[in-house]
Amino acid sequence: MSPVPALLPTYAPFPFALARGQGDRVFDDRGGAWLDFYGGHCVAGTGHGHPAVLEAITAQAKALVFYSAAGDLAIRLEAAARLTAFAGMDSVFFCNSGAEANEAALKVALQLTGRKKVGAFEGAFHGRTLLALSATDAPALKAPLKGLLAPVTRLPFNDAAALEAADFSELAAVIVEPIQSMAGVREADSAWLAALRAKCDDSGCLLIFDEVQTGMGRLGAPFAAQNFGVKPDLITSAKALASGVPMGALLMTEAIASSLKPRDLGSTFGGGPLACAALVATLKVLTGETLMARALEAEAKLRAALDGLLTVRGRGLLLGLETSHAAELKAHLFADRILVGGSNDPSVLRLMPPLTVTDASLNALLESIHAFARVAA
Ligand SMILES: Cc1ncc(COP(=O)(O)O)c(C=O)c1O
Repeated sequence: MSPVPALLPTYAPFPFALARGQGDRVFDDRGGAWLDFYGGHCVAGTGHGHPAVLEAITAQAKALVFYSAAGDLAIRLEAAARLTAFAGMDSVFFCNSGAEANEAALKVALQLTGRKKVGAFEGAFHGRTLLALSATDAPALKAPLKGLLAPVTRLPFNDAAALEAADFSELAAVIVEPIQSMAGVREADSAWLAALRAKCDDSGCLLIFDEVQTGMGRLGAPFAAQNFGVKPDLITSAKALASGVPMGALLMTEAIASSLKPRDLGSTFGGGPLACAALVATLKVLTGETLMARALEAEAKLRAALDGLLTVRGRGLLLGLETSHAAELKAHLFADRILVGGSNDPSVLRLMPPLTVTDASLNALLESIHAFARVAA
């Protein structure tokens, strides 16, 4: 027998196998239910197995599972029209993941400006392809690829003085997460993002919002760009975009789209009919079920109940719980069958449940946290 597992280990999984999911819960292979405040890496925006999404995927699968961009498809045109309108952008390139969307965004910026360098922030996570990894602030992941990664000017996040002092004149683009999720749900100030926008404009440098986590209604607005009132040149999206069917998107302004030629970007699977059908259904569910309002309502409920107990960071349903007992709290929640995320900040746990999260699930989470606090006190 081979000494290595058939499936290459990449991530420390839960100590149980998943069998199915429904709404804001997943079920293990013994039938045990778990409240999913993790969402499979922040993907399950409309919840697990939303009936409207399942129906759309099933109907599309029966009609045509896949055809590349070599064939025009009504569902792809509808997905593009609906997503650009939702995001307040003009055009979209569909790909398959967050890293791929960021790779395309950075590539477009380098190509259109003719500059050779990009700007990114301390604590950033943008993915694992070469340009996206270059922009990511993860020395351990980058060390094996030393010499192959693109030159990046690393800037302090949400630091007005550092922004003012920085020189953007040689930067093709600056890429920023309006809320840095992996870093521990670190939120940018609207004024700082506006100053970043102005500095990019003054320097001929493009502004990219990585909205792989912050988009698709999670913060209570379609994208953080609307939430923070700052319009970037490019927005990247993935994760919750198609309710779990792999999909990435690079949204752009008219100025960028009109500067690109056919074949500058391309992808075999990007914009496949199954993903597009899932995206259209996801957008209909988000608006039809007023899930953005639900995200804000759930945030308000959590904040009110946790006031004085923990520091709550973030917006909508991308929240960080800050406590010096984060590891113990995570274990306590797990014992109560509640899944939450960790982060690169050892004192911050992340909540990124489906936007369909029920009051019963919020109450169960709150009860568990209060019980923990009573014991820890
Ligand atoms: C903000 C952000 N950008 C990009 C990515 C990369 O996305 P993907 O894993 O789909 O390549 C992630 C993944 O966690 C992310 O959180």
